[in-house]
Amino acid sequence: MKNVSIAIDGPSGAGKSTLARALAREKGYLYVDTGAIYRTIGLSARRAGADPKDEAAVLALLPDTHVELRYGDDGLQHMLLNGEDVSQEIRLPEISLYASAVSAHPGVRAYLLDMQRELARTNSVVMDGRDIGTVVLPEADVKIFLTASAQERARRRCRELEQRGTPEPEETVLREIVQRDWDDTHRAAAPLRRAEDAVEVDTTQLDFQGSLDALLRVIGEKLK
Ligand code: DC
Repeated sequence: MKNVSIAIDGPSGAGKSTLARALAREKGYLYVDTGAIYRTIGLSARRAGADPKDEAAVLALLPDTHVELRYGDDGLQHMLLNGEDVSQEIRLPEISLYASAVSAHPGVRAYLLDMQRELARTNSVVMDGRDIGTVVLPEADVKIFLTASAQERARRRCRELEQRGTPEPEETVLREIVQRDWDDTHRAAAPLRRAEDAVEVDTTQLDFQGSLDALLRVIGEKLK
């Protein structure tokens, strides 16, 4: 049977990863978090002391940067950097900025493209990121553009940080979200934008279950 691809793109904090993971579980597909791959390259740049905005410096690291994606017994995606499991470390807030900077370089994006396409060629996937519907999987069976207002995304992120025991003021979080939205949508290489054939789902007014139901409706409709 043909593998099915569901592409979910959208700005940071719209709930992509939580919802994509739940959808993948529901459908029995593989969940691929592509942001984690960029974060791993960002971590590699940080460890090497490279300026993540310097494309030549980042590209020079790639031949010695072995990035691997593995699924644990828990079914969760783990990121390996030169064999070391860095799944926890890539979630540190400072790595978000490194990831955003390295992801702006066309050479980095090209380097990661095959890896992402190969996963979708060999598995049914729910893949989330910024350019999945537009660049990585333009032929995806279902494309969803997941959004929520910046204020609501900041509120959710603050709740998450609080639960982790590392609270941050809401205005700082909101400022970072607005900055990252701007960076991700204004870069020259594969900027974040809605694919023409993507269905937009705005979760500002929806809770988790409401969002999941909305996505399942869209998917059910598209795969009919
Ligand atoms: O989703 P995230 O916050 O883990 O992603 C980290 C960074 O990687 C984000 O700033 C944008 C970038 N990214 C990208 O450019 N393309 C993707 N497909 C996924 C993430």
